[in-house]
Amino acid sequence: ARTVARGADGVVTVGGLPVTRLAEEFGTPAYFLDEEDFRARCRAWTDAFEGADVFYAGKAFLSRAVVRWLREEGLNLDVCSGGELATALAAGMPAERIAMHGNNKSPGEIERAVEAGVGRIVLDSYQEIVRVAHAAERLGRRQRVQIRVTVGVEAHTHEFIATAHEDQKFGLALADGQAAEAVRRVLRLDALELVGIHSHIGSQIFDMAGFEVSARRVVGLLTEIRDEHGVELPEIDLGGGLGIAYTPEDDPREPYEIAKALRDIVARECTAAGLTMPRLSVEPGRAIAGPTAFTLYEVGTVKELAGLRTYVSVDGGMSDNIRTALYDAEYSVALASRASTAEPMLARVVGKHCESGDIVVRDAYLPADLAAGDLIAVPATGAYCRSMASNYNHVLRPPVVAVADGAAREIVRRETEADLLRLDVG
Ligand code: LLP
Repeated sequence: ARTVARGADGVVTVGGLPVTRLAEEFGTPAYFLDEEDFRARCRAWTDAFEGADVFYAGKAFLSRAVVRWLREEGLNLDVCSGGELATALAAGMPAERIAMHGNNKSPGEIERAVEAGVGRIVLDSYQEIVRVAHAAERLGRRQRVQIRVTVGVEAHTHEFIATAHEDQKFGLALADGQAAEAVRRVLRLDALELVGIHSHIGSQIFDMAGFEVSARRVVGLLTEIRDEHGVELPEIDLGGGLGIAYTPEDDPREPYEIAKALRDIVARECTAAGLTMPRLSVEPGRAIAGPTAFTLYEVGTVKELAGLRTYVSVDGGMSDNIRTALYDAEYSVALASRASTAEPMLARVVGKHCESGDIVVRDAYLPADLAAGDLIAVPATGAYCRSMASNYNHVLRPPVVAVADGAAREIVRRETEADLLRLDVG
């Protein structure tokens, strides 16, 4: 389904359109998103998880067009802020297909989620149990909720994006009994309907073992709940976190592999405990959006440091991709606007921001004849790049251009100086 290729002239194309033409029309930097690939990835998840629910994690990248694609491809949507909820509703996602997350949802966010009738709110603390129950009572609703638990897994990923070890801010721990206590509290409240247990262990994970431990421990809690309260909860959500390939060395698992692993474990554990198999759901974000887009930059200056490396400065940087600076993330990069037979040189691709940490690709080989005006492409920037973009140095955030059927259109337009000044009310 992927439509990114390199033409005979060496120019990279997406959906049949050469990046040279796209750069002329939309400027650089810009994210180019392959809509067909995005939709195909949605279908790969729903096919793999047939009979289960796939909630796309909107934090990876969300826009109204994305919400429409999700709706059309039969996915649900996980939101974690009022802004994401507003985008989802504005694009017509039925509220019952939305799940609301967050470790510190504001009273306003809770109110809006309950009022809109979201399919579930994932409770993250004792306080939130009370807050959501009050909102539901006030609005005369019974709100479906899940409880987010911390299963105590050390996910093998960057510290900032691991979320199931005990010493962190998310969820209620299984180990110290807070999860079980949260279940007791929720079951006592008529305004809340406890439908399931939620666990998300982290992000950019390649190893299935953590997901399997998480699944086992969540079913363990369902068993305890059955034994203590005589109720069998109908749902479990095992979160997102499946890693993608950022560089050729990465070897990610496919949706069908994780689907099979999770199903098998949950089925086995439920059979052993005499539980009815609950309905499974998952929340992939990166694995759907990540591979579908690349960032196109124009090379500005090329500075050769004798005996060290060459610094290639592009017209964006940490404002359109903070992941290298924040997580030491690795990316690859390629000359996209022409062919070159020049020798490869060790390059560091850096941005235009006022700090040395402004690195897009730490170490990359690019042709030694690289020069100002060349276009270079950084793949796998569809997730957590535009969604984490900033206006640092008052740099304008790039557009997201969707390419489909040989046509390209902005789904998020380029920011303008007028946009910046509009917020600055003097
Ligand atoms: N569900 C929950 C409750 C989450 O917190 C997340 C991600 C996901 C699902 C989706 O995870 P994914 O499938 O995308 O890995 N900014 C970081 C990633 C932070 C992920 C936060 N939560 C990055 O750029 O790597």
